[in-house]
Amino acid sequence: MRLNLEQAAARILKGEVVAIPTETVYGLAAKFDMPAAVQKVYELKDRPPENPLIIHVQDSASIYPFVDQVPEGFDLLAKKFWPGPLTLVVPIKKNCIVASVRAGLSTQAFRVPDHPATRALLRMTGPLVAPSANLSGNPSTVDPIQVEHDFGSDFPVLDGGRCREGIESTILVFKEGSWQVGRLGAIPQEAFYRYLGYLPKLAKVNETPLCPGQSFRHYAPKAKLHFGEDLQKAPVIIGFSDRKYPPHATLFSLGHSTLPLEAAYSLYTVLRELDQKGIPEAWIDAEIPQVGLWNTIIERLKKASS
Ligand code: TXA
Ligand code: MG
Repeated sequence: MRLNLEQAAARILKGEVVAIPTETVYGLAAKFDMPAAVQKVYELKDRPPENPLIIHVQDSASIYPFVDQVPEGFDLLAKKFWPGPLTLVVPIKKNCIVASVRAGLSTQAFRVPDHPATRALLRMTGPLVAPSANLSGNPSTVDPIQVEHDFGSDFPVLDGGRCREGIESTILVFKEGSWQVGRLGAIPQEAFYRYLGYLPKLAKVNETPLCPGQSFRHYAPKAKLHFGEDLQKAPVIIGFSDRKYPPHATLFSLGHSTLPLEAAYSLYTVLRELDQKGIPEAWIDAEIPQVGLWNTIIERLKKASS
């Protein structure tokens, strides 16, 4: 069910959950200070209670009431990247946010999204929790049709069209005096160097992830995906429009192999398309440069195939 701004705000203020557009992916939004509404978000997604939610706010000043002191670099990052696809996890004042929102942690993830409809909505509702609007484990959703596919055609969606980035925000966590990457996302790791004076550290594969959500199965279609295997006999290939593949193969294209923005934009739509077409297995062309936004795409493809 597609809603306009006023309808979406009215429902959220009553304690209902509404899917909302952001520049990254759609989110499942509820008032951050209504525990029953927050609970509904977890239930709708079938999300484990130990995986906390991001609070979406109108501007960076909106987070000041929740913190004793903003961490070093926060104002700089906020000024440069907000509104935009960056989430910042910061230590907060004791018990100032409902425990279920932050899964009992003493930190909170915040983000100022860059989508005109949702920015207008936030002015009407105040801060909103919004995890990605997909069933837990499924690929995220980048348009209202994909949201309706996961939650049904009666589910209320504030229609903001197709998401511009198509991939989730980058998450930086302030820990032990520096910013570290909790999740790769739409902003490449390298982009932070000139503002922080250092490259935010990325957790190693065997380390406990900084974001609890990174431990769960993610971004995966039902189709079995192969990453980095020989493509010669592959019947279905997830690859690039400018590359030559064996003639018998069906190509699901991530766009041109020199355009990471295009690959990010089409990634979840391609993964969802495999299932819609009932394709049981696909092989990923893993010849992808390990730099910038490509690293986010590689990480998502690896997770989807694990
Ligand atoms: O682009 C995005 O970030 C989208 C749009 C809707 O804003 N949202 C999104 O939310 O991707 P979600 O819930 O699918 O992913 C949020 C991630 C999870 O991995 C969660 O564990 C992590 O953020 N997170 C939330 N609060 C945290 C905290 N206090 N400390 C560490 N990680 C946290
Ligand atoms: Mg998600």
